[in-house]
Amino acid sequence: MILLNGKKTSDLIKEEISQEVLDIIKNGDRPPHLAAILVGDNPASLTYVSAKVKACDKVGFQSSLIKLHHDVSEEDLISHVDNLNKNVDIDGFIVQLPLPNHINEKKILEKISPHKDVDGFHPINFGKMCLDIPCFIPATPFGIVELLRRYNLDLDGKNCVVLGRSHIVGTPISILLSKNKKIGNCTVTLAHSKTKNIKHICNNADIIISAIGKPNFITEDMVKDGVVIVDVGINRVKSNKTKSGWKLVGDVDFENVSNKCSYITPVPGGVGPMTIVSLLKNTLLAKKNVFS
Ligand code: GUN
Repeated sequence: MILLNGKKTSDLIKEEISQEVLDIIKNGDRPPHLAAILVGDNPASLTYVSAKVKACDKVGFQSSLIKLHHDVSEEDLISHVDNLNKNVDIDGFIVQLPLPNHINEKKILEKISPHKDVDGFHPINFGKMCLDIPCFIPATPFGIVELLRRYNLDLDGKNCVVLGRSHIVGTPISILLSKNKKIGNCTVTLAHSKTKNIKHICNNADIIISAIGKPNFITEDMVKDGVVIVDVGINRVKSNKTKSGWKLVGDVDFENVSNKCSYITPVPGGVGPMTIVSLLKNTLLAKKNVFS
């Protein structure tokens, strides 16, 4: 079994990005600048956004965090988005999801300028991704593809099962892995909460991408020998082995499943750091106006 080490791989990519930042500054320009809007005080969202801001520091990017009250109106949130769209000192920005229930998420995402949409969630970018037109690719699927690429995995003709159909992970990764590309050419099955015979479907998979958010969902009896597993789940579970009383685990029963795998991502240290570094990569592309 080989660990798909997202921490190590993302550190390498961060070094590459840092070098590009130095080149930008050497040419008399300012560093890339990422902004994030965080609405409310969801602890998981706060953790993710803080990690994104910290990563910006690490590679020499500027960053701005705009924290808004849980009760902010849709109108006020849109005016913050408009300001970031107009601000020439900001190259790209994200609105951290999920948003509170009184806010229409789709409406907000459509207000983000596609040129600054480093999450790749705007319908224009999502549509371009489907049509193979260069664009911002959502950070988690972008990170997964990059991780598989850097480990030189051969995916041609493989059966890939994606668990979960979210707009952030499941749907885009299933589209990307079905493309006629080096990291692609899979026969993809997108399974979800209404799928029947998940165990049977997983047993036929050469690659499983799990993004459902249920600890220990994937068990030993569900996978075949030699399977490649990408575990996107980030689940907080109780633990009597840590000081805090909890720990992070993925969707996979790692202890019992990993010895059947040819490759598997750990949690933490797998997809998470790759997601963050992919957001940095998109911000660098935004700074360089690659898609404008
Ligand atoms: N919430 C969970 N993942 C993401 C992400 O990649 N981007 C944003 N904006 N919100 C998220």
